[in-house]
Amino acid sequence: MNLPREEILKELELLPVWKARHASAAKEASVGAVEKTEANVTANIAEMSWEALEAAVKNCHACALANTRTQTVFGVGSPHSEWLFVGEAPGAEEDKRGEPFVGQAGKLLDNMLAAIDLKRGENVCIANVLKCRPPENRDPHGEEVVKCAPFLKRQVELIRPKLIVAMGRFAAQALLNTDDSIGNLRGKLHDYNGVPVVVTYHPAYLLRTLTDKAKAWEDLCFARRVMRGL
Ligand code: URA
Repeated sequence: MNLPREEILKELELLPVWKARHASAAKEASVGAVEKTEANVTANIAEMSWEALEAAVKNCHACALANTRTQTVFGVGSPHSEWLFVGEAPGAEEDKRGEPFVGQAGKLLDNMLAAIDLKRGENVCIANVLKCRPPENRDPHGEEVVKCAPFLKRQVELIRPKLIVAMGRFAAQALLNTDDSIGNLRGKLHDYNGVPVVVTYHPAYLLRTLTDKAKAWEDLCFARRVMRGL
């Protein structure tokens, strides 16, 4: 029996046949589909509760860091905190323990917090721009920041902190969408989606550059003054 191709496909319930369009049109369509999917993901994140957001971070595979991380690092602290401290990305220790700033830099951060009457897990939230560790602690890539940004944005919307303290050049530049230097950004009040932002040095930098600890102390005093005036 020699059935025509259409008949065979019909018998196998494989109709209608999807024909590849012109290669460039097909590519355009797939790029469009990816953009649409990314827009959908961002829109979904923008509606999430704290718990849903934490689960979404845990299951995120939006960039290649998902392949090398041990676990994601969502952040620590109550979503009702008035203070939000933001760093760059988890390091080796954070990747192992699933909590931000638990290594050497974290010890210094805890001391800095104590100096202005803040305590991890009590009255301050700590998070990073990236939720996964870049391998070998390399600098985050632009694409990773873009993919991860909706998570921090939603964290800020849900926490609605009175003040954000951006720690280090990377966090400051990512939050404020600038390539200005830490030196220029310190000592001024900035804005992230309606939330005041103060910039200071990253604790890991302060461990290497003890002479700038006094400047970090000035930044914390400035942040406390701003907070009291809010
Ligand atoms: N450095 C960061 O920026 N974040 C961490 O969580 C740890 C080290």
